[in-house]
Amino acid sequence: MITETLDVSVLPLAPKNPLPLWQLVKLVRTLDTGQEVIRDAGGPITRMKFGPKWLVPPIVAVTWPDGIRDVLGRNDAFSERCIIHDEVRHMAGGSLFVLPNVSWLPRKRALQPVFTKQSVRNYGGYISRAAQTFVDRWGGGGDVDLDVECRRLTMQSLGRSVLGIDLNERADVIADHMHVASSYTADRALRPVRAPRWLPTPARRRARTAVMSMRKVTNEILQACRADPTRDAPLVQGLIAATDPETGRSVSDDDICNDLLIFMLAGHDTTATALTYALWALGHHPDIQDRVAAEAAAIGDRELTPEDVPRLGYTVQVLREALRLQPPAAGVARLATRDIAVAGYRVQAGTLMAVGIYALHRDPALWPRPLDFDPDRFSTEAAKGRDRWQFIPFLAGPRSCIGEHFAMLETTLAMATIIRSIEIRSVGQDFPVAVPFTTVADGPIWARVSPRT
Ligand code: HEM
Repeated sequence: MITETLDVSVLPLAPKNPLPLWQLVKLVRTLDTGQEVIRDAGGPITRMKFGPKWLVPPIVAVTWPDGIRDVLGRNDAFSERCIIHDEVRHMAGGSLFVLPNVSWLPRKRALQPVFTKQSVRNYGGYISRAAQTFVDRWGGGGDVDLDVECRRLTMQSLGRSVLGIDLNERADVIADHMHVASSYTADRALRPVRAPRWLPTPARRRARTAVMSMRKVTNEILQACRADPTRDAPLVQGLIAATDPETGRSVSDDDICNDLLIFMLAGHDTTATALTYALWALGHHPDIQDRVAAEAAAIGDRELTPEDVPRLGYTVQVLREALRLQPPAAGVARLATRDIAVAGYRVQAGTLMAVGIYALHRDPALWPRPLDFDPDRFSTEAAKGRDRWQFIPFLAGPRSCIGEHFAMLETTLAMATIIRSIEIRSVGQDFPVAVPFTTVADGPIWARVSPRT
């Protein structure tokens, strides 16, 4: 981890972005492509001011590896959660995602063991079976909306893995609830001026109702696990048993519910987008798809398990390339709590540091032919020597994604299970997206599927 050694006060401020204010206001709300326009005009670290500091924090956009490392890889005392996390906290409670650094650390220590590469293997069976239902439904062929199917698949495997229950027909209702809650929260966080929280607007009421019904589900499952410690819900049982190795303190029921809720919120749209985009891309690249199919078929005609993942290396490369081109989290933000050095510039305390993952992953100065879908970029040979901070779909540094191993296991087993049985041809040339907060497919992603011969 980086610690501050140089005298920050002598450093210059990052260059001011030359675009007119009205255009910048629009661009910062365009969470993916807006980053590229801001970078092309102002460089990979650039400063924007929208009004007096006490009303709107200045923003420094960072889209280059060494600057991103300075923001995310540093000692936690220099950057904090920001308005986005505050909004999520007010809506969905004090979860791992939103806690300020000081209260986050013990929670992270307690939860980390539940999400190691080893621990997430417990969920392999649920994932493969959820993917198999896709195959059973579509194995005969037809026109399929990949977005709907991948959302169903991820909700099923997340429900079974995180909550330990089969969501079945409730899966769609819960997905709707989550969409309502996260859209409302993101919309509020990105407004320059917000209505006070006590104001009971219809949108707020809907979001609260959605959160309450999801909390009811998490609380029911928690109580059921407390009553029956043998119940098959490994993650909930893991959270009940979790203790901070330094203090020995366990996690309260309220906080367990907050975390279960955030795992569903943070793990659903993101994983569904990654899988949908990867399958859509394969539907445009029959040669790449055949390689994935051959790799999975070589394992044999049985349920795939986490032990098979080392033999699915090319499948993982395809997923990485999908996460590069369409990172489900287009960017993240942090608040500088004191003046800090970022890529040789001084970022003043109180500045919002916006890390542009989308622009980083598509920068022509970092990736040759950046818009080509080319999984070979992630072969061991090609990735050798690449800057650790150049590819960060799950972020890096202390507050990176706790669900990374789960998400990679899920998408790898699901893609291999589907592609070894089904051939996909994508219909649309484009992959339309909406970016209310995380990136989601905007409208149906049609594909023609047929049994693989
Ligand atoms: C492809 C799928 C996923 C992607 C691309 C992704 C990406 C990210 C990113 C970029 C962050 C940092 C956010 C920030 O600091 O503002 C994050 C944090 C987080 N993610 Fe994920 N995520 C994915 C799947 C999951 C899953 C499956 C879960 C849980 C089961 C999960 C749970 C979390 C949590 C709890 C945090 C907060 C971690 C902390 O602050 O310590 N994510 N994720």
